[in-house]
Amino acid sequence: MTGRIHLSPPDVGPLEESYVMAAIRSGWVAPLGPEVDAFETEMARRVGTRYALATSSGTAALHLALLAVGAGPGTVVVVPTLTFAATANAVVYTGAEPVFVDCEPATGNIDVPLLADLLDRLSATGRRVAAVVPVDMFGVCADYDALLPVCAAAGVPVVEDAAEALGATRRGRSAGAFGRAGVLSFNGNKVMTTSGGGMLLSDDGELVARCRYLATQARQPVLHYEHTDIGYNYRLSNLLAALGRAQLHRLDSMLSRRRALRERYTKLFAAVPGVRLLGDGDPTGNCWLTTIVVDPDRTGWTAARLGAHLNARDIEARPVWKPMHLQPVYRAADALLNGTAEHLFDNGLTLPSGSALGADQVDRVTTAIEEFLG
Ligand SMILES: Cc1ncc(COP(=O)(O)O)c(C=O)c1O
Repeated sequence: MTGRIHLSPPDVGPLEESYVMAAIRSGWVAPLGPEVDAFETEMARRVGTRYALATSSGTAALHLALLAVGAGPGTVVVVPTLTFAATANAVVYTGAEPVFVDCEPATGNIDVPLLADLLDRLSATGRRVAAVVPVDMFGVCADYDALLPVCAAAGVPVVEDAAEALGATRRGRSAGAFGRAGVLSFNGNKVMTTSGGGMLLSDDGELVARCRYLATQARQPVLHYEHTDIGYNYRLSNLLAALGRAQLHRLDSMLSRRRALRERYTKLFAAVPGVRLLGDGDPTGNCWLTTIVVDPDRTGWTAARLGAHLNARDIEARPVWKPMHLQPVYRAADALLNGTAEHLFDNGLTLPSGSALGADQVDRVTTAIEEFLG
């Protein structure tokens, strides 16, 4: 078998084709329509929130949620340093300033005691914190049992970045349902896709109505296009919502395939001292991207060397997110660090994890790893 094996390619087939074709034939093409309404209802039901708003991306949903909780010029928003840039960028779009906080080693999720320390320091210096944005890293929920009371005590709303975590749970509650608002991404590499898209989730009807209005060009309800706010063109199209509904039908079976792949990696690395799987202590994660963390003193090899070995065989493998405090664009931002994000960046490697990977592709990956391990 040849051809590049990707980390998490889209998993679409005949069901998606039939849903999208039906949406086209229905005439609801430009741009909203009944598929959007149904997708919002079905996703809210799945995650367990009262309301949902489908958006053109997860980044757009984050931007709207942050605006709705009051992020803007003169405020700061706390963001884990170990995340994809979109989490921090959405803060900057509002005019607020991101302040970064480090993570804990087992999952790469926000370090809650360090967050509590940071909130105390920000309060002592009189800075207004508009929100904390925990990220459910690689599909494992942050420690909300500890985090929510810390944020409540500080009077700071939580906007949950669950972009990677649809299908994950913590104590029976679904990722996306923990904060004042939660955000999902349906980008092409996520557990389900609308090719591009996202969802804002909340129990707060007023918040969702405000976001819906801002996402629809902030049009006042009159015929002549009256505007009293700056709006955005952030709604998901009806055709893409149809794709999302088909994917949602298949979500559980796609998640099972990811879990089976995770078990295969677990077995493969069980006998390799010095290698652990990030977030593996939490069986309620969605197994979005299986990531190993390598201790080179024990293995005798680095994550980068295994990554190079796989990429040379046309198998995609990447480091975890480069921490935001190391990004040139965020050089000047404040950060409270403990070294964990940098350690995970230096020693972590994400492996092909998609539900669309065929058995022969999975065999190619595991054979290449076994060959490397000797
Ligand atoms: C943690 C995190 N936040 C936000 C996003 C942004 O989502 P989108 O690509 O749908 O804008 C992503 C992924 O792309 C992500 O991984």
